Amino acid sequence: MTTVTPGAPLRTTSVGTAHTRIEGRDKVTGAARYAGEVPFADLAYGWLVLSTVARGRIRALDTEPVLAMPGVLAVLDHRNAPRVETGYTGLLGKPDPTCAVFQHDRVPHLGWPVALVVAETSEQAREAAEALVVHYEQEPHDVGFGGEHPDAYPADGFMPAVTEKGDLDAALASSAVVVDAEYTTPEEHHNPMEPHATTARWDGGRLELIDSNQGATWVVGELANLFSLDPASIRVRSEHVGGGFGSKGVRAHQVAAVMATTVLQRPVRVVLTRRQMFSLAGYRSPTSQRVRLGADADGRLRALEHRSLSLSSTVYEFIEPSAAVARVMYDAEAHHTANRIVRLDVPTPTWMRAPGEAPGSFALEAALDELAEKCGLDPIELRLRNEPDKGPVSGLPFAGRNLPACFREGARRFGWADRDPRPGVRRDGRWLLGTGTAAASFHAGAAPSTATATAHPDGTFTVRISAADIGTGARTALTLVAADALQVPPDRVQVRIGDSDFGPAMIAGGSMGTRSWSWAVQIAAGELLERLALGADIPPEGITVRSDTAAAIGALTPAERHSFGAQFAEVAVDVATGEVRVRRMLGIFAAGRIVNPLTARGQFLGGMIWGISMALHEEAVRDRASGGHVGADLAGYHVATHADVPRIEADWIDDPDPADPVGIKGIGEIGIVGAAAALANAVWHATGVRHRSLPIRPDRVL
Ligand code: MOS
Repeated sequence: MTTVTPGAPLRTTSVGTAHTRIEGRDKVTGAARYAGEVPFADLAYGWLVLSTVARGRIRALDTEPVLAMPGVLAVLDHRNAPRVETGYTGLLGKPDPTCAVFQHDRVPHLGWPVALVVAETSEQAREAAEALVVHYEQEPHDVGFGGEHPDAYPADGFMPAVTEKGDLDAALASSAVVVDAEYTTPEEHHNPMEPHATTARWDGGRLELIDSNQGATWVVGELANLFSLDPASIRVRSEHVGGGFGSKGVRAHQVAAVMATTVLQRPVRVVLTRRQMFSLAGYRSPTSQRVRLGADADGRLRALEHRSLSLSSTVYEFIEPSAAVARVMYDAEAHHTANRIVRLDVPTPTWMRAPGEAPGSFALEAALDELAEKCGLDPIELRLRNEPDKGPVSGLPFAGRNLPACFREGARRFGWADRDPRPGVRRDGRWLLGTGTAAASFHAGAAPSTATATAHPDGTFTVRISAADIGTGARTALTLVAADALQVPPDRVQVRIGDSDFGPAMIAGGSMGTRSWSWAVQIAAGELLERLALGADIPPEGITVRSDTAAAIGALTPAERHSFGAQFAEVAVDVATGEVRVRRMLGIFAAGRIVNPLTARGQFLGGMIWGISMALHEEAVRDRASGGHVGADLAGYHVATHADVPRIEADWIDDPDPADPVGIKGIGEIGIVGAAAALANAVWHATGVRHRSLPIRPDRVL
């Protein structure tokens, strides 16, 4: 055992060095089991039946013939399913009836779960589900987003809907240069590689789920509320999760699986198909945004207005807060922002990587580029001239704002200084070439979490925390943090995650997971070292110390805490075919201390590649007549694939957060922020044409 000084600051021996994923071999060899793969004796399979109408009422379900089909065990629907509680306050603050399935005969959108067919095999369940005839009383529906919506209203969500400072009209009137533009982004879907999957069973009086989610204790909390159970009587395990991106909370399939296992007293597995994910897993609302900027001739902003409209379902009020990014990025004497929504007969949207910032930064950062053009200023210089010294709306100081440093480093590495600002003048054969840039920011926060650290007699350690590694590399990052906190090499530490029995912890969300968990791990490990320093003998069961960060996080001084970044892109545009090819991208980020450079780079690049996807490909098309999607699968919904991804690099500048014990800010989401704007700005630089509607499809380029 190393000699330690109690309370010594974290020595970063492992943090900051590249480590491959601890579970990497298990994942690529298939040894890692996901929620839909864990074997259970006596397992039954549930298959969801989704509504085929966009609004109305279930008149009847012909369950009898289905119950007579081979292997069918039960059909649950609104007539016979267990009742659940929806009047509770959950993680989202207000009841979310989206996952409260089979409680009524209302159909609020196409793809709403109307029944669960349970059978001995997955194939039997599917066949029976497809054979189930449901009779509807159809009502007129409205799924059409865009244009005027008289029923739209400002909606708060996690932040005020509206912020207003100064006289906007007066500031615009007195501005030498004005940009007034509308931007739109389409409905976008997360679609992680691993579909949503859960296996539920009652085990010795406890409800247990093997589940693919972004936070095991979150799922426990929501299920406890819904089924009026003591949280201690529920255990959720999620050892491996194949992507989440905001979509993996509590959804219809887990609730249906719990109902079925309760009724049948057998383990029941429910897995969503790719198509079902398009209506059951949440998605990013389309947005319609108006940005008005007024500036002096030298580019200094006098007026800034950012208004965003998004949609939600009739079931639940979810807000995509796109205008909020302007509350962080730029100041002006007149500064107005507003997030509004309209309720339509569509599935409920949800968090999707960088909710708000991703579409919001497209509009705001594209508008900044238009302003730079009108002012005859370099777009980076325009941004540097408008760096605020405090939060434009909050008035709070920034706890670190290294955006200028990101732009300087990015410009140097991208070769920005040689850029000819004129649009539409560079050619490479049939291609027009252009470059663009945009700023990125994402909220940096931490949420209370608990962890335990155990010292074993053989000199090894086990750390337990109910963290979720949704593919981010969180397990590996936490191992590095724990190793440093325990002052041992990483191979002496086993980090166990994904089990709600390890105690409450932050979800893998809001780019706050690894930071929140690391904080708890670091405190538990530090206190364990202090205990060991007192010279105690380690009994066979080890010595265990538990941490809780609630007090430490509650004591944080109020400040504007964000990660920042500068995105750069070069595109080639074929004006004969309308094709846009990305030639290279660079992102430079100021995002706190980087725990594992290997997986951090992957996180940034993943976000930037999603930005390519968002700028050029992704678009869920909703058919107004049926209320459903056209092409709700990975053939019809285009995402960037390898052939679309160019030479792309992400790097970072030193930016440790002094308020965090490990210096972390969080990196999960900032990679996508600003990426689509940098690409759209590059398309303008190539062609001289502004594309204010995403995706920049070939037919729009022509
Ligand atoms: Mo993220 S959209 O907070 O999972």
